[in-house]
Amino acid sequence: MIKFDFNTMVDSFIDKDNFNNLMSRKDEVYSKFSEAYMTGWTKPIEVDELNEILRVRDEVLEHSECLVVIGIGGSFLGSYAVEKMLSPYFNNYNFEVIYAGTTLSSKYMDELLEYLRGVDFTVNVISKSGTTMETKITYELIKELMKEKYNDSEIKERIIVTTDKEKGLLREEVNEVGYESFIIEDDIGGRYSIVTPAHLFPLAFNIDLDKFIEGIHDGKDLINEAYMYSVVRRMMFDNGKVVENFVAYEQNMYYFTEWLKQLFGESEGKEGMGCFPVSSIHTRDLHSLGQFIQEGNKIIFETFFKVEKSNLVNYKNSDLHSINNIVLDSVEAAHFKGNVPCNLITIDEVNEYNIGKLMYFFMMSAAFSSLLFEVDPFNQPGVEVYKQEVRDNLKLD
Ligand code: PA5
Repeated sequence: MIKFDFNTMVDSFIDKDNFNNLMSRKDEVYSKFSEAYMTGWTKPIEVDELNEILRVRDEVLEHSECLVVIGIGGSFLGSYAVEKMLSPYFNNYNFEVIYAGTTLSSKYMDELLEYLRGVDFTVNVISKSGTTMETKITYELIKELMKEKYNDSEIKERIIVTTDKEKGLLREEVNEVGYESFIIEDDIGGRYSIVTPAHLFPLAFNIDLDKFIEGIHDGKDLINEAYMYSVVRRMMFDNGKVVENFVAYEQNMYYFTEWLKQLFGESEGKEGMGCFPVSSIHTRDLHSLGQFIQEGNKIIFETFFKVEKSNLVNYKNSDLHSINNIVLDSVEAAHFKGNVPCNLITIDEVNEYNIGKLMYFFMMSAAFSSLLFEVDPFNQPGVEVYKQEVRDNLKLD
């Protein structure tokens, strides 16, 4: 169960004429969305593709103790966020999945390589373009280590590539060596790729994919809620509330908020438009950013995530989860009194189905919201600027 409240602590900030105007653009936005090329993620996942993911996973389980996933941005955040939300805090799952490729820290790399010397592992390198610097460097360094540990045929069975069907260096390597590979379809961009093997393969090791995929499919039912949320975001922007703070009361939702930041940041942040996405984990951040949100510059609106059911830990005449949720309600009310509009999204529990559904809801919202800002939800031209600067300064063979 997922409930949305974009009204109680938002309504007084809403200009009715602007609201009616934005609501009347629904058909126009839906039709732009359905005509857009990069919406391959709205198609159902093929059964054959899913069976292939499970087949390759089973092969990996036969010879490896650990999977090293190499990718960054949209080729990393989705699966990592889901894995974190569904993993126990301690003594994580039986099968270890390490996510690498998101840093150029040599301390991290040195320790990772040292760790991998002692375990049997398989690599899943994920890059749609096949050219991303962090992914390429991490992959090449780990491949060097593999050459010390394994012979050619062992390496061949321990590298799995997820990339474009035809283009890029990784696809060329697959064609040359014959690695196992998965495809990220042309019409699906990185941050919308949760429904592809880029995320489903790493998740297949520890997560119930059927329930997750069912949630993703049912996310389509939330199209009207997604449009309403996009309208509210656009109205916040028009009111000078240009920063959206995603607030979670479960620590394990931290990377989910990171995924949201990428989704909205890269989709909307163009041509001077968009709400800048930030996130807070409460109650931790009440003791840092809380002061600013209550009394600082009034450029912020918030979207709270409330989880109804969790583990039972009794505390005096109450239980810890109820206390956590009472704090949430109180903070929301306090921030609202401090001129901070607050959306509320409630889920009954953190499970595969709800997460899948929520992710689909947010992908639709990011697309609609970008269209209301009159920008292309599916490109990220700004990212190229720093990449070119790096290419100019870094002379590598
Ligand atoms: O959302 C996006 O498209 C980006 O964040 C990419 O996923 C990210 O830059 C990684 O790209 P690639 O998969 O080509 O390595």
